[in-house]
Amino acid sequence: MTGVIKAARSLELRPLRLRDARPLFALVDANRARLRHWLPWPDANRSVQDSRAYILRVRAQARAGMALPFGLWWKGELVGVAGFVWLDPANHSGGIGYWLAREAEGHGLMTAAVAALARHGFRALRLNRVEIRAGVRNRRSRAIPERLGFRHEGTLRQAERLVGRYVDHAVYGLLVGEWRAR
Ligand SMILES: CC(C)(COP(=O)(O)OP(=O)(O)OC[C@H]1O[C@@H](n2cnc3c(N)ncnc32)[C@H](O)[C@@H]1OP(=O)(O)O)[C@@H](O)C(=O)NCCC(=O)NCCS
Repeated sequence: MTGVIKAARSLELRPLRLRDARPLFALVDANRARLRHWLPWPDANRSVQDSRAYILRVRAQARAGMALPFGLWWKGELVGVAGFVWLDPANHSGGIGYWLAREAEGHGLMTAAVAALARHGFRALRLNRVEIRAGVRNRRSRAIPERLGFRHEGTLRQAERLVGRYVDHAVYGLLVGEWRAR
């Protein structure tokens, strides 16, 4: 299984472990109102037990080579989650997803984490394509692939249902050749 990825000074991506369930749930609970605005799962995550179940599920996906989730640790504190939410080994593709606690926003942490994930995807996982999808109105999320040189490839209409509304997704892609040439 993949080990720790150092994304920047004081910033590490660590594979999620069962013992992270308690701090992870505390983080979700404290950020629930803003996360549910852009992500589909916070309403279903209501207890430490739910976070344990999530960690077990994504660790199983990671063992099967279908996903690669990490806790994002900044100065020794868990501040969010980032990783490959899906991997498609047959097509050498993967999709990155992420979220961050409010207190950790505005420091460039997720941009550094996603850069490290893309590097890991292209080098260690030998991916050809890395994809990121973000709500078209999710300015902070869209800024991350834009900062990192991903190409905006188009819009998926009404791709996700969030808090009672359909949300269009902006799709960003980066190919290994573009990443090497950057
Ligand atoms: C999406 C999300 C992770 C973005 O967080 P973020 O803190 O804006 O992103 P980064 O950590 O990359 O930081 C970028 C910010 O830090 C600033 N910054 C400071 N130093 C920086 C550096 N060295 N490099 C890049 N940005 C830096 C940038 O200017 C930017 O702030 P601004 O938007 O006020 O200009 C966060 O808003 C979030 O979790 N939202 C809710 C969940 C969500 O939407 N997830 C994504 C679903 S697709």
